[in-house]
Amino acid sequence: METRFIQLYKDNFDEAIQTAAEIIANGGLVAFPTETVYGLGASALNEQAVRSIFTAKGRPGDNPLIVHAATMAEAFSLARDIPTFARELAQKFWPGPLTLVLKKNKTIGDAVTAGLDTVALRVPSHPVALALIRASGLPIAAPSANTSGSPSPTRAEHVLHDLNGRIPLILDGGACEVGLESTVCDCTMDRPVILRPGGITAEMIQKAVGSVSIHKAVLGQYKGKAPSPGMKHRHYAPKAKLTLVTGAGAAFKICQLYDESIASGIKTAIIGTSENDSTYGSRRKMLLGSRENERECAKHFFSALRQMDEAGVERIFAEGFSQAGMGLALMNRAIRAAEYDVIET
Ligand code: TXA
Ligand code: MG
Repeated sequence: METRFIQLYKDNFDEAIQTAAEIIANGGLVAFPTETVYGLGASALNEQAVRSIFTAKGRPGDNPLIVHAATMAEAFSLARDIPTFARELAQKFWPGPLTLVLKKNKTIGDAVTAGLDTVALRVPSHPVALALIRASGLPIAAPSANTSGSPSPTRAEHVLHDLNGRIPLILDGGACEVGLESTVCDCTMDRPVILRPGGITAEMIQKAVGSVSIHKAVLGQYKGKAPSPGMKHRHYAPKAKLTLVTGAGAAFKICQLYDESIASGIKTAIIGTSENDSTYGSRRKMLLGSRENERECAKHFFSALRQMDEAGVERIFAEGFSQAGMGLALMNRAIRAAEYDVIET
């Protein structure tokens, strides 16, 4: 299959959205930008189309998808037994990087939810995502538009790299603003439980509805029945082996590990923050931004992993982050990218 790649401008926007909407309405797949990461969309009401998402990504069939709608009313029409706190969260944070897990109603089929009786719903804020949902007149099921297991795509070029020849269309709307996937919040209990941290932080949810808990799998390795099937799959991993180094002595430890690795003839690199630039000196490095600005660091994390792959790096040592605010989302992705290989200093 040939993959069309359309860079969006003011002049071609409406026509490109129309083309994309027709593909979706006819059961095809379209990759499109959201404020978090690029999504690979299909009509959420077409089981066969939804199944083809799993094939294109090589995604395990037991990992359910997020359904994207253009308004809160449209999103909630797909759910039932919606608690007041979920309505309050939607009111406050939609459109935006928050996904709510709710009891599903009958319109949503088993392919989307992987057989669960819940559905994950999100109203994205990106103008391209909203325009596509509106033009297709359908709820759009969309996981991140990467090959399953690899870092999520934050630019259209990342999607092309992973899915060229496997999908009919990629809409290029530039780099994603948040750079990490949405916060997934389970709303089927008596209070919100964060299953995956993201741009809407635990602190923001706590402030909005007065309570929140963070699932223990967010920073740990989960054994047992995962409430969010995505938790148990290998994730975000670059080709290189990555070790995460946390704590006050991280930069010095990273230099030591880097030097040892280089001495054994391994192509090695560092992912760090600008505060430690001079400590790393001339070592091969990728700086995400300032530690003081974790949103900036989050925005560049996945693309840094991809750049390391492009450069043929075999070994990466990365700095850890705080576990508050956006730092929690960064740590959640970094720990998985490291496949739980964490050194505390
Ligand atoms: O920002 C995002 O959320 C992006 C953009 C495209 O919207 N999408 C995304 O989708 O990251 P995906 O499929 O890569 O991640 C969806 C996560 C998975 O961890 C999945 O297990 C979880 O949401 N999930 C989906 N439905 C669920 C459900 N019914 N119950 C619990 N977890 C669910
Ligand atoms: Mg994903």
